[in-house]
Amino acid sequence: MADPIMSQATARAHSNIALIKYWGKRAGPRNLPAVGSISVTLDGLYTDTTVVFDRALSSDTAELDDKPADTARLTPFLDLVRARAGIETRASIVSTNNFPTGAGLASSASGFAALSLAATRAAGLDLEPRELSILARQGSGSAARSIFGGFAEMHRGVLDDGSDAFAEPMLDADDWPVEIVVAITDRATKSVNSSIGMMGLDERSDYYQAWVDHAETDLASMRDAIAARDFETVGALTEMSCLKLHGLMMSTRPGLIYWNPATVAAMLAIRTLRDEGTPVYFTIDAGPQVKALCAPGHGESVARALERVPGVLETRRTALGPAASVIA
Ligand code: PMV
Repeated sequence: MADPIMSQATARAHSNIALIKYWGKRAGPRNLPAVGSISVTLDGLYTDTTVVFDRALSSDTAELDDKPADTARLTPFLDLVRARAGIETRASIVSTNNFPTGAGLASSASGFAALSLAATRAAGLDLEPRELSILARQGSGSAARSIFGGFAEMHRGVLDDGSDAFAEPMLDADDWPVEIVVAITDRATKSVNSSIGMMGLDERSDYYQAWVDHAETDLASMRDAIAARDFETVGALTEMSCLKLHGLMMSTRPGLIYWNPATVAAMLAIRTLRDEGTPVYFTIDAGPQVKALCAPGHGESVARALERVPGVLETRRTALGPAASVIA
């Protein structure tokens, strides 16, 4: 494209929570996942990102939630966009999250999805969602799923160039209005980010091969359960995938423990609610927050119950959200 003096776009992308988890990378560049994953996109947690390509800039700059942010991971990502658009112009990125950053609430998912859309549009590109998903994956694996709303599946792919490692929509948010309640137990930035946590796992965990070997079976079971709107099976698979992931994390040398006492208390409270008849299941990512997957109509009572759990600081209830979109 022509390289105008200044061009800009703003995009919003919603965070997502994996029901069948991704953890571990294939060898080589391009951030290729070792396993596929299935997630739900969340209406209530999102990132807004503005990208301005500006010929007056001599280097990329970034701001997250009104504070200067490190561009070490962002410049190589913008380079992918620049190469594709045939431009050299540096960019400023201004991003805001409407939730705590880096605390296991999937800020990298919504962040890199919003950045993918804003940066490509600002650079004059109009990529198909699949291409955007492939781009977003190179910033953060989970971001590939946040291009889509509702339920989405990320394919592991087999090709070294990553052209078959993209997410696809499964169901729209309205097709099955399950609810998510996030119980925040700590607002601090997590100690070990996911990229570091999942490095070199074949050497670092004796459980890793088993994790990879069983992924396809778990994904197939989840696909069937979602297609059948079978909430109990979706929930049981979700808890199983979460506990397997944390078992793998704990088995890694050095062992990763993302939970605090309130995390465990919230997990147990969710099981008690279930024993008492509420259709609710938990999942947890690389952080101490607990996400409760609630059958349609049960979010409010689950949120009230989780607010009473000692150590839970606040809860956020959300419906499933839409695909990433350009907002300005
Ligand atoms: O792609 P990352 O670096 O955001 O890693 C995601 C890892 C988990 O959140 C724990 C699981 C997942 O599939 O989202």
